[in-house]
Amino acid sequence: MQDRYGHRISYLRVSITDRCNERCTYCMPQELQEWLPREEILTFEETLRLIRIAAELGVSTVRITGGEPLTRRDVMEFIRRIPEIPGIKSIGLSTNGTLLAREIGPGETIASALRAVGVESINISLDTLDRAVYSQITGRDFHEQVLSGIHAAIAEGFKQIKLNTVLMRERNEDQLIPLIEFAAPRDLILRFIEMMPVSTTEVLDDKNFMPIQEAKRMIESRYGRLIPETEFRTNGPATYYQIPERRQRVGFIGAMTNLHFCESCNKLRLTCDGKLRPCLGSYLEFDIMKPMRAGASDEELKEFFVDVVDRKPEQHDFRNHYKPGRKMVAIGG
Ligand code: 5AD
Ligand code: SF4
Repeated sequence: MQDRYGHRISYLRVSITDRCNERCTYCMPQELQEWLPREEILTFEETLRLIRIAAELGVSTVRITGGEPLTRRDVMEFIRRIPEIPGIKSIGLSTNGTLLAREIGPGETIASALRAVGVESINISLDTLDRAVYSQITGRDFHEQVLSGIHAAIAEGFKQIKLNTVLMRERNEDQLIPLIEFAAPRDLILRFIEMMPVSTTEVLDDKNFMPIQEAKRMIESRYGRLIPETEFRTNGPATYYQIPERRQRVGFIGAMTNLHFCESCNKLRLTCDGKLRPCLGSYLEFDIMKPMRAGASDEELKEFFVDVVDRKPEQHDFRNHYKPGRKMVAIGG
């Protein structure tokens, strides 16, 4: 599948729940959260069918997100079936990390189960190493669980583990160096992410927003000039650098300030309530659950995918007075 701007779609982000056990301000509004009723959520059978159809159209990488994907019941049974889909070569999971170390059997943790069902890459959110600040940001006192979760994942030998840090002025600007020092001996790829207006637009105040260039300058004043790694890419618009004189990689995701951000986009999103979204930063979304539940054939659903990809915008609309129509927690990162 290719859109009219030459974006080739090989990556599907699949949100399997809008629920989360944390309450990050940049992802959810603070008011009481109303979760979607179960009948409005795609069943795992339906989701697997849509992944199969996407795979037939050239998608080879799937990333499972939420909300917090590990809060959904039977998630392992679901993930276990994804590698059986012809064409799917790689499975990743994005998580807040809080449940990874949980024991689910003798000598078995959620992290080890994920490895066993075929997950290769895990992205874990970690905005700070300070427990009190962590609680302020996420609304929950789960910092220790997350650190145990990270260590549980490391112990399982995943192909790749990344830590994602959302940059927040005053909240965690003092944490950039400590996070780099935390990631280094553990061989984790740390990525700094500019906050996007997906929860409430107020987060984009100068008060909260910290551009990646500023983070980069702070890091360079400590370690010296970062060495661009133009040939290293993951599955997204992050740019990577090497810290001089050590083999440590850090990434920057500058959705707001990097004007070339969307050029290499290879993504499509499926929300847990059955909407295909061609772009995170655009209002566009298309309900594929409705035709599917009305009995559409695989061929018809394939056409639906192709039409959505054809309407993928050249770039996101965040800089253009975009106001979120949907919370991040309901889109899936
Ligand atoms: N801006 C940038 N990143 C965000 N995430 C959640 N909300 C936002 C936002 N408003 C991040 C989480 C996680 C990933 C799935 O998305 O921290 O790392
Ligand atoms: Fe792709 Fe949209 Fe993200 Fe840009 S904002 S990188 S077009 S999904």
